Amino acid sequence: MKNLILVTGSEGLVGSRFVEISQRKNFLHLPKEIELDITDKSEIKAVIESYNFSAVVNFAAFTDVGKAENEKDNKKGDCWQVNVEGVRNFAEAIKPHKERIHFVQVSTDMVFSGSSEDPGAYEESHPPEADSSKLTWYGFTKSEAERIVSEVLGNSGTILRLIYPVRSNFEPKLDYLRKPLKLYDEGKLYPVFSDQQISVTFIDEACRALDKIIIEGHKGIFHASSSDTTTPYELISYLVEKVRGVKDVVKTASLEEHLNKTGSSIYRYPKFGGLKVDETENKLGIKFSSWREIIDKLIVQGLGK
Ligand SMILES: NC(=O)c1ccc[n+]([C@@H]2O[C@H](COP(=O)([O-])OP(=O)(O)OC[C@H]3O[C@@H](n4cnc5c(N)ncnc54)[C@H](OP(=O)(O)O)[C@@H]3O)[C@@H](O)[C@H]2O)c1
Repeated sequence: MKNLILVTGSEGLVGSRFVEISQRKNFLHLPKEIELDITDKSEIKAVIESYNFSAVVNFAAFTDVGKAENEKDNKKGDCWQVNVEGVRNFAEAIKPHKERIHFVQVSTDMVFSGSSEDPGAYEESHPPEADSSKLTWYGFTKSEAERIVSEVLGNSGTILRLIYPVRSNFEPKLDYLRKPLKLYDEGKLYPVFSDQQISVTFIDEACRALDKIIIEGHKGIFHASSSDTTTPYELISYLVEKVRGVKDVVKTASLEEHLNKTGSSIYRYPKFGGLKVDETENKLGIKFSSWREIIDKLIVQGLGK
């Protein structure tokens, strides 16, 4: 079959929504992890050689940032194996066919440090942090994956970065909005940082951008994010007010104080984060919603019901 698209991680938070709303639904090849383990080099080579793919979208990743910290500097660990070696396997298998197969690597804002020396919000062209001591281990593995895509595939590979991806419902995994909302409903919502800059990705908009990238053959580095930045406090306060109709119930916390108190790394919760989307909007001819519009749209879709 022509125009077949291989999608890995299609049962995850983001990939499963892509499968639901892609205009190329009928062309998606969707192996589960047990059928295609991306860390298995020969399996990846075999699948690339066996089908007439026009694109490969790699959502598959080790995404538990906290767990990844326990594997810091361990290249034999699952995080490195999936996020780096898995991507290397794809890039090398696709290299001989790079004019036909468009490889899209789904990546993250966590390739940037979010520190005061190199603050966001980051443009698409901003260089990812290459110093592992200035990133989480998860962030470093994703940064290495980006480097490999560009080294092996040059201009024919594509990177799509996301940040705190959210959707109206997805039973298997909570996200940056549904988790605090659940905690609020249970009376367990923790105080929320009011001194951290973030943006959020509306998964539906990221999937529509991805569809355009594949269908129209756009290549390069793209961001899918709210068009503006906010703080976790502002975001969750607006969410709780809009969904549960209560104002001024969310308590604030200071990231700065939290770091001082716990001695955690400043790179674990990037203080000056966020992704800019101007270049992506111009290249794809689309507009991303603001973070308030995203919450409003998710509520229409049933968020919090
Ligand atoms: N969630 C976020 O906050 C966030 C933020 C920015 C960017 N991203 C990026 O967006 C992408 C999708 O994230 P997500 O939140 O949808 O992730 P997710 O829900 O954790 O899903 C990841 C998927 O990858 C699969 N997978 C893991 N190891 C694999 C392997 N060795 N071979 C094949 N499949 C494997 C998992 O399958 P099993 O469940 O069967 O293991 C799962 O279906 C990732 O690349 C992530 O880095 C995520």
